[in-house]
Amino acid sequence: MQLYPGADLIECEINGRPLYLPLLREGRKALLLDCGTKQHAENDIPKALSRLGVAPEDVLWVVITHPDADHCGGSAEIQRLCPNARIACGEADRALIESPDYLYSFRYDAYRKDHGIFFDPETELAIRNCSSTAQPVAFTFTGGETFRLGPDRVLELWHLPGHSHGHLGLYDSKHGTLFYGDAIQGAGYRSLAGLWTLCPTYLYVESYLQTIRTIETCPAETIVGCHWPVLRDRQAILQFCAESRNFVSQADRLIRDYLSKHGSGVSLRELCERLSDQLGDWPWEVHFELANAFSGHLDYGVQSGRIEVETSGFPFQYRLKKADRKN
Ligand SMILES: [Fe+2]
Repeated sequence: MQLYPGADLIECEINGRPLYLPLLREGRKALLLDCGTKQHAENDIPKALSRLGVAPEDVLWVVITHPDADHCGGSAEIQRLCPNARIACGEADRALIESPDYLYSFRYDAYRKDHGIFFDPETELAIRNCSSTAQPVAFTFTGGETFRLGPDRVLELWHLPGHSHGHLGLYDSKHGTLFYGDAIQGAGYRSLAGLWTLCPTYLYVESYLQTIRTIETCPAETIVGCHWPVLRDRQAILQFCAESRNFVSQADRLIRDYLSKHGSGVSLRELCERLSDQLGDWPWEVHFELANAFSGHLDYGVQSGRIEVETSGFPFQYRLKKADRKN
């Protein structure tokens, strides 16, 4: 799909959800934002480059927005396909993006040891198969840097943390368009058929809220995410930002209310099971994905002194500080 001359979206699919990989061009210089999984990098991307008349050698940059298998899994394959490409990512995300094993343990298996929440072996294998070998990243950025694709075509890197610490976005100032990756996520992810399929997966509540504010107040007239429809006017952008913030507020309120009624302690698993239906219509089997956002809310509550956590047993138990409990 062409967004405008010099910007195309390579349309892919990940687990029944859309995955849009932006390709930005000026003359023969091209920059690819995210490389999809190993399978996307081996199949969808080379086909799209050929269809668009872009030689793989002319892809000079591959900027990875954040460490998730559908955004960085194909980095080794893309480096082989595009030998002149320099792979870049956010500084804080480098270690996760360079190592598929670390990515799996930190991102996808993070809640096994303390909370007993983990993927079944079949899903684990499917996630691991999204990546192949470790791939070094050539450059890391912290936001504020620019790429000059042409005399009047400057792309700005923005730091949009919350889903990951180093999450990057790319702003094409000439076209007033922000490519935000998965930086904000509305009320969740929909399938290609338009059905709710996954909850939001942000991790760090404070920085996620700040990123929503950044996008809400930015000059972009168009915003383009990796899994959401392109939004081409300010009203639609503000609405998506409001939807993203509302989810955070609602999740925070539901967690606090539940903790206040269960003063003896609540596990992360119990929160996911009991609150999933109240937050969205995604299939029941993905409700444990709420562990990402919920652990962020719980950590934020612990850091701000509202919540205490008992870590001596298994699984960890959370409760409100005494003054805030209803029993
Ligand atoms: Fe994603």
